Amino acid sequence: MSAHLIRADGDSVGRADRPLLVTVDGTPVAGVQGQTLATVLLADGQSHWRTGANGGRRGVFCGIGVCFDCVATVNGVPDVRLCRRPARDGDRVTTQNRSAAQ
Ligand code: FES
Repeated sequence: MSAHLIRADGDSVGRADRPLLVTVDGTPVAGVQGQTLATVLLADGQSHWRTGANGGRRGVFCGIGVCFDCVATVNGVPDVRLCRRPARDGDRVTTQNRSAAQ
């Protein structure tokens, strides 16, 4: 499995993507309909978007909604599992930081 987005014009299946745009801490990130927010971020090259209590950087671990490592704030709602949340055009993702330094 590749974490990198295969553009529709380079995909041998011939699919037609419907693009969407989300923001991560205010920075626009492009994705396509059908991706989860985690896959939008992974395809953008982002491997972590949360800092845990011990300062460790966290992102996708299980990828199936069990571990809660991938949580972030989405449209003002905290602790959303990005691996389970379908991306919607205009979603606003805010990274979370729960390190002791905060
Ligand atoms: S990666 Fe485990 S819940 Fe999302």
